[in-house]
Amino acid sequence: MSDVVIRQAQLYDLSAAAVFLGQRRRIYDGIVRHSQARPGERVLDLGTGTGYLASRVARAIAPNDQVPAPNDEVPAPNDEVPGPNDEVPGADSRVAGVDPSPTMVRFAQRRVPGDADFRVARAQELPFNDASFDLVVSCLAFHHISPADRPRALSEAHRVLVPGGRLMLADLRRPRNPVVRTVFRHGLHENPVDDEQVAAAGFELITRAESWPLLQLMLARRV
Ligand SMILES: C[S@@+](CC[C@H](N)C(=O)[O-])C[C@H]1O[C@@H](n2cnc3c(N)ncnc32)[C@H](O)[C@@H]1O
Repeated sequence: MSDVVIRQAQLYDLSAAAVFLGQRRRIYDGIVRHSQARPGERVLDLGTGTGYLASRVARAIAPNDQVPAPNDEVPAPNDEVPGPNDEVPGADSRVAGVDPSPTMVRFAQRRVPGDADFRVARAQELPFNDASFDLVVSCLAFHHISPADRPRALSEAHRVLVPGGRLMLADLRRPRNPVVRTVFRHGLHENPVDDEQVAAAGFELITRAESWPLLQLMLARRV
């Protein structure tokens, strides 16, 4: 089974806004709070898609006097998309994101202002140096990565984190209601990352939580 890469960024973004019934910002801000992101941290978003989580985390890590304005709107297109082999900028970039879909990366670049660093790359092959980030986040992306490759993606997250750095994964959980289970089949049949996989990649679990609708949140620390 191979990765499920989404090519239709505009359509995805509209559908994502609709699926969350107007609660997208509140839910993603909850994920950011759960990640314990704080001003000054360097953060990487895996499977960033249209950069919505990256845009919310950018606010949380901005110095208190430089919080960017809310930016759900996407400004004019920019065709410059760095690839995985381009030179990696220094530690100045506070928010970075990867996605194998160039259209997603272009969209994310337009959404997140400032020095954010978005790249076309897979979570299994991160184009960043060791210990480049304090926090790695990801939302709804691990169930798109082929199951056989998820351990590799976790060990790449471990490699690019500083010792003691945090990994925050948000993904779909199995619904408890059997009717809901039957209606929403996509990705809901399994936990894309279990505690054993996280431990095997060199993380210790800090906390697990649930968030509406059907999201599970997992925060772990690199040991
Ligand atoms: C459901 S979208 C989630 C996007 C975004 N994180 C959000 O919360 O809106 C899943 C994303 O994972 C990306 N993806 C697929 N395979 C991937 C991989 N191997 N590594 C990183 N991202 C991947 C897809 O292209 C897609 O943009």
